[in-house]
Amino acid sequence: MQLLEKDNCQHTYYNTDVRAMETADGRPQQSLDITDREAVARFVDEHQIDGIVNCAAYTAVDKAEANEETARLLNTVAPCYLAEAVDRRGGWLIQISTDYVFDGTNHTPYKPDDPTCPNSVYGRTKLAGEVQAMQACRRTMIIRTAWLYSTFGNNFVKTMLRLGREKSELGVIFDQIGTPTYARDLALCIMTAINGGIKPGIYHYSNEGVISWYDFTKAIHRLAGITQCHVRPLHTSEYPTPAARPHYSVLDKTKIKQAYNIEIPYWEDSLAECIRQLL
Ligand SMILES: NC(=O)c1ccc[n+]([C@@H]2O[C@H](COP(=O)([O-])OP(=O)(O)OC[C@H]3O[C@@H](n4cnc5c(N)ncnc54)[C@H](OP(=O)(O)O)[C@@H]3O)[C@@H](O)[C@H]2O)c1
Repeated sequence: MQLLEKDNCQHTYYNTDVRAMETADGRPQQSLDITDREAVARFVDEHQIDGIVNCAAYTAVDKAEANEETARLLNTVAPCYLAEAVDRRGGWLIQISTDYVFDGTNHTPYKPDDPTCPNSVYGRTKLAGEVQAMQACRRTMIIRTAWLYSTFGNNFVKTMLRLGREKSELGVIFDQIGTPTYARDLALCIMTAINGGIKPGIYHYSNEGVISWYDFTKAIHRLAGITQCHVRPLHTSEYPTPAARPHYSVLDKTKIKQAYNIEIPYWEDSLAECIRQLL
């Protein structure tokens, strides 16, 4: 989002994190702990905030199984604090959520109003955060996304690039199916929604297409020219994790495409762009 600010200078931006660091282009960030209700209310009022994009979350999916209270505080309670603070000013909230609100038993892409059934603490706390946010702020957009990666921070693409260079063999799960999302594309969509007018409701956004983590890894290596690492398909049962993952979490994006008249890039085109930036 921060990289889009200079092309959208009609808005004033306040980028915050729990520990203030720097924005993506080197500007200072402000510190705000969104689990502190008073601090959130004060910040929103002081800076006369009209809209919030909440990307913060407890995203350690496996650790969440043993840390439910911490996950609940950040994924469920904090969105409510943000929502109530901005709603008092008649403002809006875009709350980023996840494909993990579904159990992954579908065989066709999940629509925003399909029944939810999370099978992990992370998924349950994120789903409860959706509900709390929508109850506390009338102008809330929930955008569920999946398999996020970018040139910033740690993510699957960067990990597979590193492992591909370090290892001669790698096992990656082939029976979990979804669609990656280049964070730049999601950010562009969010900016389009802000500029086009907030339309409350639940939406889905990922890139276009459908693949497994195995296929994704093969593509990452191919696009980065990594040839010395043999990628082996692994069954989920060969890679046990504390939290269950959905086997199928393809998201149906029709609603957001129609609401904002957008086209969504194909996953491989966006991956190629990200890898070009990284190399
Ligand atoms: N990653 C995925 O594949 C994926 C898939 C679907 C949906 N999502 C959703 O997309 C969003 C972004 O995910 P991500 O993977 O980019 O997350 P991330 O890298 O884990 O970033 C989460 C951010 O939240 C901040 N944070 C933690 N505690 C906070 C607090 N008390 N107050 C304010 N900020 C706090 C973290 O700061 P520190 O770094 O300083 O702790 C970090 O900057 C989340 O809502 C996530 O649920 C992610």
